[in-house]
Amino acid sequence: MRVLAFAASLRKGSLNRRLLELGVSLAREAGAEVDVAEFRQFEMPMYDGDADREEGLPPGGRELASRLQAADALLLAAPEYNYSIAGSLKNAIDWVSRVRPMPWRGKSIYLMSAAPSPMGGVRGLWQTRIPLEGCGALVFPDMFALAHADKAFAPDGTLHDTALMERLRKDIAGFVRLAEAVAPLCGGHATAPAPVRRQVAEALENETALQPQARRQ
Ligand code: FNR
Repeated sequence: MRVLAFAASLRKGSLNRRLLELGVSLAREAGAEVDVAEFRQFEMPMYDGDADREEGLPPGGRELASRLQAADALLLAAPEYNYSIAGSLKNAIDWVSRVRPMPWRGKSIYLMSAAPSPMGGVRGLWQTRIPLEGCGALVFPDMFALAHADKAFAPDGTLHDTALMERLRKDIAGFVRLAEAVAPLCGGHATAPAPVRRQVAEALENETALQPQARRQ
């Protein structure tokens, strides 16, 4: 089972990247093969419908779409900006949502956030679920928001709070097990019989129905 992983922050000292690295090591421990990307590889201009029609996706958008298509699941650490999803991440979701088949559709996604605040970015995670689920992704019910993240990490990259660390380990193991179970139905290399895959795809096709002119890749 192949998992794409990235933190949606460009900052060198990103707390979300530190949390992502911890998540990646726990996903590998649970048996996943992980493709770690840098958000900078997916840099894109603001969505422009004219540019989309005339030139298609920018290179960063094509890169994100193809890395997603090659994966069964996504591990995403996303900062909260102003109580909501960061604009750069929403912009990336919007660009990639123009590709057909829809790259987000059927992807199992585990959401994490890290912030120095006592909320840990959880409000942003609730906002991040909305466009991803609208695009047909299977966002894992539990999410992990790391409060006081500037003080939470031990020098070896684990969390000082061992109970919290165990919760994250169990949660990610559960996510990997569920993603493995659904990958044959709707993952990047689904192997279930074609009628079953079609039935799942049609049931998750919301966004395609809303955007009839979106391009096929
Ligand atoms: C923030 N930050 C922030 N934190 C939070 O818990 N709730 C919020 O609403 C916001 N809003 C916000 C807006 C903007 C524009 C910035 C730049 C920052 C603080 C944020 O959590 C902190 O900078 C994190 O360290 C950002 O994540 P990375 O870059 O460290 O991964």
